[in-house]
Amino acid sequence: MTQIREVLRRSLSPSAYDCVRTSWWYSCHYLPRAVASVFIRRPPLVQGFPADQESELVAKLRGINVVAPTQMCFVMTRFGSDKGQRWHNYTTVYTALFGHLRTQPLRVFELGLGTHNPSLASSMGVTGRPGASLRGWSELFPRASVFGADIDRDILFTEGRIKTFYCDQCDRDVIRDLWAQPVLQDDGMDIIIDDGLHTFEANISFLEESLKRLRPGGVYVVEDIRRDTFERWRHRLAAVYAEEFPNHEFAFVEIPNSYNALDNALLVIRRHE
Ligand SMILES: C[S@@+](CC[C@H](N)C(=O)[O-])C[C@H]1O[C@@H](n2cnc3c(N)ncnc32)[C@H](O)[C@@H]1O
Repeated sequence: MTQIREVLRRSLSPSAYDCVRTSWWYSCHYLPRAVASVFIRRPPLVQGFPADQESELVAKLRGINVVAPTQMCFVMTRFGSDKGQRWHNYTTVYTALFGHLRTQPLRVFELGLGTHNPSLASSMGVTGRPGASLRGWSELFPRASVFGADIDRDILFTEGRIKTFYCDQCDRDVIRDLWAQPVLQDDGMDIIIDDGLHTFEANISFLEESLKRLRPGGVYVVEDIRRDTFERWRHRLAAVYAEEFPNHEFAFVEIPNSYNALDNALLVIRRHE
């Protein structure tokens, strides 16, 4: 399969290759899942923090059928993001969280543009499409301002309503410099997604420097949480963040996915209105 993909990539123009790739995914993955979802229902496993609180967020997340593909899965996959392709199915969750906001003039920020430099950590590989998810957000939210950041300076770009910046999420001074950018400074964000370097320490430093940038009612997401860090996350949420951030609710979301038992989990944080 990898060899066929490589031959196609070398022989077709990038747009023809994308078209073949998306059509293949649509017939082999999207359509079968759409049919299966009529008969099969699989909700995510959701744990709320603080644990003793009634939470609308947790109830909403538990009501999702992650087998059912959505338009967000299609749009993100068409642009080349892996958020709803197969290995991850986050776009089923994002549809439930953000679908009703589609026409709002949101401010959306995503860390991690999707470098195609194979020597960098968390690379999407040589067939990666840097900026894929930002372009996806821009199409899905036609009135939104979309911001992104990455450690790879070579893939930063400005296009339409999208602006991107340098950031190394392991360096708190650099994160503070990022948020000091005039266009990011004042207004806060409705959605912040960390899809950068997927280590516990990197997630923590970005979260602790960035959560205050969330607008009331806004949602912050950490993607690709690895199974071997679940216990550390649960401890951090229960023992530290539930007390440190009293105006926020936290949901730890394990998403069933037969292709991925390694890192198909999200932390979803909502700031109270
Ligand atoms: C999985 S890719 C992002 C994919 C993209 N969000 C999408 O959905 O198409 C992860 C990105 O994180 C970036 N990254 C790796 N280490 C980083 C760090 N320390 N700080 C910021 N970004 C980092 C990589 O350069 C890469 O572009």
